[in-house]
Amino acid sequence: MAILLKEENILDKCTIYATDINQKALSDAKRGVLSIKDIQSTIGDYLTAGGKYHLTEYFNLNGENAVLKTSILNPIQFGKHELGKDHPFHEFDIIICRNMLIYYQNFHQQKLVNAMKNSLCKGGYLGLSNCESLEGIADPQLKLIDSGQNIYQYLVQ
Ligand SMILES: C[S@@+](CC[C@H](N)C(=O)[O-])C[C@H]1O[C@@H](n2cnc3c(N)ncnc32)[C@H](O)[C@@H]1O
Repeated sequence: MAILLKEENILDKCTIYATDINQKALSDAKRGVLSIKDIQSTIGDYLTAGGKYHLTEYFNLNGENAVLKTSILNPIQFGKHELGKDHPFHEFDIIICRNMLIYYQNFHQQKLVNAMKNSLCKGGYLGLSNCESLEGIADPQLKLIDSGQNIYQYLVQ
C-alpha cells in the first residue's frame, strides 16, 4: 500500500497504520525484511496492479534478503491492536485485512467485520483476499466490487 501511494505521489498526505495482536508479527514487519524469492513472486501482482517501476527499486539488497527502504517504511505507523476488542481508532478510507477472518468461526467473523465496518468512512473500502470472502455474513452495507480479491465498499444511505 505504501508503494502504491508513493507511486501516486500521495504517500506524504496519507496515514498508514499497520496493526496486529501479535508483537512478533509487528516487530518482523517493522524491520521490513523480505526474502528476494518472496519479492520475485510478487512482481507479477505488482505489475498487474499498475506498478510503474521495478519493485526492487524500493528495497536495499542484503544477501538473500531485501530490506524495504526507509522512504517506504518510515511513514507506516505500527501498533498493537486487537480487532474486535480494542476500540476502533480511526475512520479509514481503506482497510486491508488479508487472511485473518479465515481463522475465526462465523460468529466471531461477524463481530470482526462489524469492527472493521465501524472503522471505515462512508464509501470506504475493505480488502480481504482471494481466499476469503463475506459470503457467510452477507452484510447489505458491504457491497462486493471485486470478486477476484474480495474487495467490498461500505455503502450507507
Ligand atoms: C495468517 S496471518 C496473515 C498475515 C498477512 N495479512 C498475510 O496475508 O500474509 C494472520 C494475522 O492476523 C493476526 N490476528 C489474528 N486475530 C487478530 C485480531 N483479532 N486482531 C488483530 N490481528 C489479528 C495474527 O496475529 C496474524 O499475524
